[in-house]
Order: sequence, then structure tokens, then C-alpha cells
Amino acid sequence: MRIVSGIQPSGKIHLGNYLGAIKNWISLQKENECFFFLADLHALTLPQNPQILKENIFQTLATLLACGLSPEKNVIYLQSEIEETTELCWILSSFCKIPELQRMHHFKEKSKEKKEINMALFNYPVLMAGDILIVKAEGVPVGEDQLQHLELTRSLARRFNKKFGKTFPLPKDLLAPSKRIMALDNPLKKMSKSAQSKHNYIALDDTPDEIYLKIKRAVTDPGKEIKYDPQKKPGISNLLLIFSEITEKKIKDIENEFQGKGYKEFKEKLTEVLIEKLKPLREKIEKLKKDKSYLKEVLKKGKEKTKKITQNTLKEVKKKIGISII
Ligand code: ADP
Ligand code: TRP
Repeated sequence: MRIVSGIQPSGKIHLGNYLGAIKNWISLQKENECFFFLADLHALTLPQNPQILKENIFQTLATLLACGLSPEKNVIYLQSEIEETTELCWILSSFCKIPELQRMHHFKEKSKEKKEINMALFNYPVLMAGDILIVKAEGVPVGEDQLQHLELTRSLARRFNKKFGKTFPLPKDLLAPSKRIMALDNPLKKMSKSAQSKHNYIALDDTPDEIYLKIKRAVTDPGKEIKYDPQKKPGISNLLLIFSEITEKKIKDIENEFQGKGYKEFKEKLTEVLIEKLKPLREKIEKLKKDKSYLKEVLKKGKEKTKKITQNTLKEVKKKIGISII
């Protein structure tokens, strides 16, 4: 199956991204034709500092490679290098109705946090449809927060196909098996790299000291029982979920292991487990981050391979809609 997915280089990749997206990408790469990209244009929907954005592009790429995403098996590229995507986005926007975008949870949530909302934030799902349809992907691995955007992509593809004949496959969502990981400082909100506080997330390259402090400060709930109950105990349930995902132990078994023990002991063990799991990743990320010419080479190769497909798709689309006359 041809697969595409992207991640915004808007900060450090955290445990939520890893468990909700990247781990899934790593297992999909074995048997599929995969296109993975850094969604730098999507990152522009929020204000960015140019120097930091550039560093984040290298940081994100180094992290993906360190996690085991193979540049030989997959095509890995930078979204903005594929100009055909933005051109297709414009064409697709002529098929998209304003209320469809007004309904998007992502837009509604982000615009609540801001006084001024830019057009890019509003148009974000159409650009995402462009990313997916330009490579004619059949499957898109995402977390549940992105499902609504994928539904819109299918609607736009369906509308286009109906009017101009079969052009795009209708891409299926390949939902990650892992549940949503919540923020350490507020277990009612998802863990996110665009969060203001560093205590929201654990980055994959956090040092042992940082991990220790963040878990120590992680919000827990009244009572002292280690029990999975997201309604009544959102804090401890989130930590249990992380523990279970990292160790691949069942939540029930972890609850049993900590029966009669308190939050302190549980947090100490979780810290130990996380430090051990993330140590080799941190070392790889540090090493890869220094080798900028290798990272640039990966993106250059990815761009060349992607363009071969995207140029053809755009040519076909322009011809069908009547704007390719020369
Ligand atoms: P962020 O909100 O941290 O900026 P992105 O929007 O770049 O993350 O998401 C990249 C991928 O990671 C998406 O597929 C998304 O569904 C997944 N993801 C992001 N946050 C979480 C989370 N807290 N738990 C599980 N999956 C997540
Ligand atoms: N919108 C996605 C996110 O914030 C990233 C993304 C952009 C994406 N384009 C995509 C994911 C295309 C899958 C397919 O997580």
C-alpha cells in the first residue's frame, strides 16, 4: 500500500508523538511504500522564529532516523520542497466549502487560544489534503486528533473524482494502536510540543535529570492507589499508560505490581524505565544532529523521488480541470 504521513517540526518530538505516530510508522515501513515528511508549512500556522524553525527541522529529522525510520526503505522529505503540494492545495480549496473548515476541531481549539487567527490555520486541512492526494496515497497513519482532517481529504478527493473522473484513491486512516498520551502537567489535555511549558511533555532526547524532574512534577490525583481509571484518576492513568507502552506490560499487571505501594514508588520506577528506554535514543539523536550534511542528503534524495510522482499528479490534475493549455 502507498502510505503518506507528516509531522510538524515545531518543537521536540515527545512520547505522545512517538507512541501515537512514529512507532506505527516504523512498523508500517516494513511492508509498504512509505512517504514521510516534515510538515514545515503546517508549522507556519503558528508564529515561528526562523532560526529555531531551521534547528527544529534538523532536530525532528534526526529524531525520526534515531527512532529507526529508514531513509533507504522510505522516502523522507521536507514538505515545502514539494511545490506541487501547495499548487494542488489551491486547486482543492476551490472544492472546499467554508463551513467544512469552520467545523474542524483543530481550528476551533487553536482559535480559542488566539486573538487573531491567520488564514493558514484555517486552510490547514486543505494543505493536508494536498500532501496526501499529491502522492495518491492509499493509507495515512495518524493519531485520532487527525481523523477529521482525513475525512475532509476523502470528501475533496470524492468530489474531484466525481467531476473529473477517477484521479485520487480515497485514503484510509491507519489509526495508531496506542491511545492518546496526555500532558504531564494537565492530564485533561493532550501532550503537545507546541505547549508553553516544558513540563507538559517528555522529549525523546530529554536527559535523565529532565526526566526525573518532569515525572516528579507530573500531576497525580487524590487518593494513593495505582489504578487505571481515566475518568476519576486522569493523572495516574496517563502515567500507567506511558509505563505500559514503554515496557510493553499490560496495565493490569502493572497495577498488581504496585498494589499497596504509593505514587512515589510508582513514579520512581517509571522514571527508571523511561531513562533506560530513552538513553540510546538520546545518544543517536545527538550524533545525527551534528551530521547536517547527511541530514540534508536524506532530504535531497527524498525530494527527488517524491517529485517524480508529484509532478505527474499535478500535470494530470491541471489537464483535467482545463488549465494546462501550453
Ligand atoms: P503536536 O501536537 O505535539 O505538535 P503533531 O500535531 O505534530 O503533534 O502530531 C504528530 C503526530 O503525533 C500525529 O499523527 C498526531 O496524531 C500524533 N500525536 C500528537 N500528540 C499526540 C499525543 N499526545 N498522543 C498520541 N499521539 C499524538
Ligand atoms: N496535520 C498533521 C499534524 O499536525 C501533520 C500532517 C500534515 C499530516 N500533513 C499531513 C499527517 C498529511 C498525515 C498526512 O499532526
